[in-house]
Amino acid sequence: MNPAVVAPSLLAADHGAFAQGVLAVEAAGLGWLHIDIMDGHFVPNISFGPQVVADLRPLTKLHFDVHLMLSHPDRYVAAFAKAGAERLTVHVEADHDVAKTLAAIKAAGLSAGIAMNPDADPRRLLPFLGDVDLVLCMTVFPGFGGQAFMPSVLESIRFVAAERARRGANFRLEVDGGINVETGRLCREAGADTLVAGTAFFKAADRKAFAAALTA
Ligand code: DX5
Ligand code: ZN
Repeated sequence: MNPAVVAPSLLAADHGAFAQGVLAVEAAGLGWLHIDIMDGHFVPNISFGPQVVADLRPLTKLHFDVHLMLSHPDRYVAAFAKAGAERLTVHVEADHDVAKTLAAIKAAGLSAGIAMNPDADPRRLLPFLGDVDLVLCMTVFPGFGGQAFMPSVLESIRFVAAERARRGANFRLEVDGGINVETGRLCREAGADTLVAGTAFFKAADRKAFAAALTA
Protein backbone atom coordinates (compact mmCIF):
# COMPACT_ATOMS: atom_id res chain seq x y z
CA MET A 1 0.00 0.00 0.00
CA ASN A 2 1.36 3.40 -0.96
CA PRO A 3 1.02 6.07 1.72
CA ALA A 4 -1.68 8.60 0.79
CA VAL A 5 -0.50 11.79 -0.87
CA VAL A 6 -2.39 15.05 -1.37
CA ALA A 7 -1.26 16.99 -4.44
CA PRO A 8 -2.74 20.49 -4.62
CA SER A 9 -3.29 21.72 -8.16
CA LEU A 10 -1.54 24.95 -9.09
CA LEU A 11 -4.37 25.62 -11.55
CA ALA A 12 -6.51 26.77 -8.63
CA ALA A 13 -3.88 29.19 -7.31
CA ASP A 14 -3.73 32.88 -8.27
CA HIS A 15 -2.07 32.85 -11.71
CA GLY A 16 -0.55 36.24 -10.99
CA ALA A 17 1.23 34.85 -7.94
CA PHE A 18 2.24 31.23 -8.51
CA ALA A 19 5.12 31.50 -6.04
CA GLN A 20 2.62 32.24 -3.27
CA GLY A 21 0.63 29.19 -4.31
CA VAL A 22 3.75 27.08 -3.92
CA LEU A 23 4.37 28.55 -0.47
CA ALA A 24 0.79 27.75 0.54
CA VAL A 25 1.33 24.10 -0.37
CA GLU A 26 4.56 23.99 1.64
CA ALA A 27 2.91 25.73 4.57
CA ALA A 28 0.24 23.02 4.63
CA GLY A 29 3.05 20.51 5.17
CA LEU A 30 2.56 18.76 1.83
CA GLY A 31 5.20 17.31 -0.47
CA TRP A 32 3.63 17.29 -3.91
CA LEU A 33 2.44 19.96 -6.34
CA HIS A 34 0.12 18.97 -9.20
CA ILE A 35 0.78 21.06 -12.29
CA ASP A 36 -1.89 21.09 -15.02
CA ILE A 37 -0.64 21.83 -18.52
CA MET A 38 -3.37 22.53 -21.10
CA ASP A 39 -2.95 23.26 -24.79
CA GLY A 40 -6.37 24.60 -25.81
CA HIS A 41 -6.64 21.63 -28.19
CA PHE A 42 -6.75 18.40 -26.21
CA VAL A 43 -8.88 20.34 -23.72
CA PRO A 44 -10.84 23.58 -24.27
CA ASN A 45 -8.62 25.68 -22.01
CA ILE A 46 -5.05 26.98 -21.89
CA SER A 47 -3.10 27.07 -18.63
CA PHE A 48 0.66 27.67 -18.74
CA GLY A 49 3.84 26.11 -20.08
CA PRO A 50 7.31 24.85 -19.18
CA GLN A 51 8.65 28.33 -18.39
CA VAL A 52 6.36 28.59 -15.36
CA VAL A 53 7.55 25.18 -14.17
CA ALA A 54 11.20 26.13 -14.70
CA ASP A 55 10.80 29.42 -12.83
CA LEU A 56 9.11 27.72 -9.86
CA ARG A 57 11.70 24.93 -9.68
CA PRO A 58 14.39 26.84 -7.72
CA LEU A 59 11.80 28.05 -5.20
CA THR A 60 10.81 24.70 -3.76
CA LYS A 61 11.65 21.05 -3.19
CA LEU A 62 8.02 20.01 -3.78
CA HIS A 63 7.63 16.98 -6.06
CA PHE A 64 6.39 18.35 -9.40
CA ASP A 65 3.59 16.07 -10.59
CA VAL A 66 2.95 17.37 -14.10
CA HIS A 67 -0.30 16.44 -15.85
CA LEU A 68 -0.03 16.97 -19.59
CA MET A 69 -3.40 17.68 -21.19
CA LEU A 70 -1.86 18.00 -24.63
CA SER A 71 -2.76 16.47 -27.98
CA HIS A 72 0.92 15.69 -28.63
CA PRO A 73 2.49 15.12 -25.21
CA ASP A 74 5.44 13.30 -26.80
CA ARG A 75 6.66 16.61 -28.25
CA TYR A 76 7.02 18.20 -24.80
CA VAL A 77 8.67 15.51 -22.67
CA ALA A 78 12.14 17.02 -23.05
CA ALA A 79 10.92 20.55 -22.29
CA PHE A 80 9.21 19.55 -19.04
CA ALA A 81 12.10 17.31 -18.00
CA LYS A 82 14.43 20.28 -18.46
CA ALA A 83 12.02 22.53 -16.57
CA GLY A 84 12.34 20.31 -13.49
CA ALA A 85 9.29 18.04 -13.55
CA GLU A 86 9.74 14.83 -11.59
CA ARG A 87 6.70 13.04 -12.89
CA LEU A 88 4.92 13.37 -16.22
CA THR A 89 1.45 11.97 -16.84
CA VAL A 90 0.06 11.67 -20.35
CA HIS A 91 -3.42 10.79 -21.58
CA VAL A 92 -4.28 7.50 -23.23
CA GLU A 93 -6.70 9.49 -25.44
CA ALA A 94 -4.05 11.86 -26.82
CA ASP A 95 -2.58 11.60 -30.31
CA HIS A 96 0.69 9.77 -29.69
CA ASP A 97 2.31 6.36 -29.38
CA VAL A 98 1.57 5.91 -25.68
CA ALA A 99 4.18 3.21 -25.02
CA LYS A 100 6.83 5.25 -26.77
CA THR A 101 5.98 8.40 -24.81
CA LEU A 102 6.07 6.51 -21.50
CA ALA A 103 9.48 5.10 -22.46
CA ALA A 104 10.73 8.59 -23.34
CA ILE A 105 9.57 9.92 -19.96
CA LYS A 106 11.43 7.16 -18.16
CA ALA A 107 14.51 7.58 -20.35
CA ALA A 108 14.54 11.23 -19.26
CA GLY A 109 14.79 9.98 -15.66
CA LEU A 110 11.23 10.89 -14.64
CA SER A 111 8.33 8.90 -13.22
CA ALA A 112 5.73 8.11 -15.87
CA GLY A 113 1.96 8.23 -15.52
CA ILE A 114 -0.95 7.32 -17.73
CA ALA A 115 -4.25 9.23 -17.47
CA MET A 116 -7.75 8.41 -18.63
CA ASN A 117 -10.84 10.57 -19.02
CA PRO A 118 -13.94 9.76 -16.95
CA ASP A 119 -15.71 8.07 -19.86
CA ALA A 120 -12.78 5.88 -20.94
CA ASP A 121 -12.91 2.12 -20.63
CA PRO A 122 -10.21 1.36 -18.04
CA ARG A 123 -9.27 -1.75 -20.02
CA ARG A 124 -7.56 0.64 -22.44
CA LEU A 125 -4.89 1.07 -19.78
CA LEU A 126 -4.06 -2.63 -19.48
CA PRO A 127 -1.28 -2.70 -22.09
CA PHE A 128 0.58 0.06 -20.24
CA LEU A 129 0.21 -0.92 -16.59
CA GLY A 130 3.55 -2.72 -16.53
CA ASP A 131 5.31 0.46 -17.61
CA VAL A 132 3.86 3.14 -15.35
CA ASP A 133 4.56 4.62 -11.93
CA LEU A 134 1.11 6.18 -11.72
CA VAL A 135 -2.39 5.80 -13.14
CA LEU A 136 -4.58 8.91 -13.13
CA CYS A 137 -8.33 8.36 -13.22
CA MET A 138 -9.86 11.74 -14.07
CA THR A 139 -12.94 12.31 -11.95
CA VAL A 140 -14.08 15.23 -14.13
CA PHE A 141 -13.57 15.93 -17.83
CA PRO A 142 -10.23 17.72 -17.89
CA GLY A 143 -9.99 21.39 -18.76
CA PHE A 144 -11.28 23.36 -15.81
CA GLY A 145 -11.03 23.40 -12.04
CA GLY A 146 -14.10 23.63 -9.85
CA GLN A 147 -16.19 20.95 -11.55
CA ALA A 148 -18.35 18.36 -9.80
CA PHE A 149 -16.88 14.92 -9.03
CA MET A 150 -18.22 12.11 -11.23
CA PRO A 151 -19.05 9.08 -9.04
CA SER A 152 -19.24 6.83 -12.10
CA VAL A 153 -15.40 6.85 -12.14
CA LEU A 154 -15.30 4.93 -8.83
CA GLU A 155 -15.89 1.76 -10.80
CA SER A 156 -12.81 2.44 -12.97
CA ILE A 157 -10.75 3.19 -9.86
CA ARG A 158 -11.82 -0.15 -8.37
CA PHE A 159 -10.95 -1.89 -11.64
CA VAL A 160 -7.45 -0.37 -11.74
CA ALA A 161 -6.89 -1.08 -8.03
CA ALA A 162 -7.91 -4.71 -8.50
CA GLU A 163 -5.61 -5.05 -11.49
CA ARG A 164 -2.77 -3.51 -9.48
CA ALA A 165 -3.32 -6.05 -6.70
CA ARG A 166 -3.59 -8.93 -9.16
CA ARG A 167 -0.22 -8.02 -10.67
CA GLY A 168 1.42 -7.24 -7.35
CA ALA A 169 2.25 -3.85 -8.85
CA ASN A 170 2.74 -0.70 -6.82
CA PHE A 171 2.06 2.19 -9.18
CA ARG A 172 0.23 5.09 -7.60
CA LEU A 173 -3.47 5.50 -8.29
CA GLU A 174 -4.33 9.17 -8.59
CA VAL A 175 -7.67 10.95 -8.84
CA ASP A 176 -8.16 14.48 -10.11
CA GLY A 177 -11.25 16.65 -10.29
CA GLY A 178 -13.85 17.66 -7.72
CA ILE A 179 -11.89 16.14 -4.83
CA ASN A 180 -12.93 17.26 -1.35
CA VAL A 181 -13.00 15.44 1.98
CA GLU A 182 -16.13 13.49 1.06
CA THR A 183 -15.25 12.52 -2.53
CA GLY A 184 -11.65 11.91 -1.52
CA ARG A 185 -12.83 9.34 1.01
CA LEU A 186 -14.87 7.55 -1.66
CA CYS A 187 -11.82 7.44 -3.93
CA ARG A 188 -9.57 6.12 -1.19
CA GLU A 189 -12.11 3.42 -0.35
CA ALA A 190 -12.05 2.48 -4.05
CA GLY A 191 -8.25 2.17 -3.97
CA ALA A 192 -6.86 5.62 -4.84
CA ASP A 193 -3.79 6.76 -2.87
CA THR A 194 -2.95 10.07 -4.56
CA LEU A 195 -5.49 12.86 -4.36
CA VAL A 196 -5.29 16.00 -6.48
CA ALA A 197 -7.25 18.90 -5.02
CA GLY A 198 -7.41 22.34 -6.58
CA THR A 199 -10.38 24.42 -5.56
CA ALA A 200 -11.03 22.62 -2.27
CA PHE A 201 -7.40 23.05 -1.18
CA PHE A 202 -6.93 26.70 -2.09
CA LYS A 203 -10.37 27.70 -0.76
CA ALA A 204 -10.02 25.77 2.51
CA ALA A 205 -10.03 27.99 5.59
CA ASP A 206 -7.49 25.65 7.18
CA ARG A 207 -5.46 23.97 4.42
CA LYS A 208 -3.43 21.85 6.81
CA ALA A 209 -6.58 20.46 8.39
CA PHE A 210 -8.08 19.87 4.95
CA ALA A 211 -5.03 17.88 3.85
CA ALA A 212 -5.06 15.91 7.10
CA ALA A 213 -8.74 15.07 6.65
CA LEU A 214 -8.09 13.83 3.10
CA THR A 215 -5.39 11.43 4.25
CA ALA A 216 -7.05 10.35 7.52
C1 DX5 B 1 -8.76 19.46 -14.46
C2 DX5 B 1 -7.38 19.44 -13.83
C3 DX5 B 1 -7.43 19.36 -12.36
C4 DX5 B 1 -8.09 20.50 -11.70
C5 DX5 B 1 -8.72 20.00 -10.45
O1 DX5 B 1 -8.63 19.62 -15.81
O2 DX5 B 1 -6.66 18.34 -14.30
O3 DX5 B 1 -6.17 19.14 -11.79
O4 DX5 B 1 -7.23 21.55 -11.44
O5 DX5 B 1 -9.37 21.05 -9.89
P1 DX5 B 1 -10.54 20.91 -8.81
O6 DX5 B 1 -9.93 20.26 -7.61
O7 DX5 B 1 -10.93 22.33 -8.60
O8 DX5 B 1 -11.62 20.08 -9.42
ZN1 ZN C 1 -4.67 17.52 -13.31
